[in-house]
Amino acid sequence: MEFFIDTAEITQIRKYWNMGIIDGVTTNPTLIARSGRDFKQVVAEIAEVVKGPISVEAVSSEASELISEAKEIVKFSEHIVVKIPMTAEGLKAVKELSKIGIKTNVTLVFSSSQALLAAKAGATYVSIFVGRLDDRGHEGMETVYEIKQIYENYDFPSKLIVASIRHPRHVIEAAVAGADVATIPPDTLEKMLSHPLTDDGLRLFANDWEKVKKR
Ligand code: G3P
Repeated sequence: MEFFIDTAEITQIRKYWNMGIIDGVTTNPTLIARSGRDFKQVVAEIAEVVKGPISVEAVSSEASELISEAKEIVKFSEHIVVKIPMTAEGLKAVKELSKIGIKTNVTLVFSSSQALLAAKAGATYVSIFVGRLDDRGHEGMETVYEIKQIYENYDFPSKLIVASIRHPRHVIEAAVAGADVATIPPDTLEKMLSHPLTDDGLRLFANDWEKVKKR
């Protein structure tokens, strides 16, 4: 299973990349805006650190414009994956981009039928937003199971990304469901990393070691 970090904050990206626990990065317009920095500068900095897939979103609405945007975005790094919205024009762009070898991540996917169409169009990655589904009272992870089954049934090469993750349990459930990728925000990665019993255990060992040293 691959882990991407869902942020545009370079400090966080560097921290977890250096720890060896992330394989790539996903960004979106909201995350870039939150960084408060220039878009091109942010992407260039990420590409200097991360030698794995970096998703950057194209924001046009027409297929032809999405394709032009994608061609510009991929110039940043060989690792760029272009995020394309789950729309009719978006899928048209995905089809053309896959023909010329540009990797795509179809984003804002909320149903198995959308995920099936994205795979048919030739998406490299398909991002299902489980947290936003849960927020609306749906069971986001049920859709993950369904999509995984559909992709397996027909050997679709598209990789399923579980996105919009809210807590460590989402990551575990995505892993149990066999999702290819979970894209995880830094605060959830931090929660996955630590446990109060680990901290208690460390304190206990340190105290006992002091006693050994005094002998
Ligand atoms: O990057 C896409 C997705 O993970 C955003 O999640 O928290 O805005 O629903 P969220």
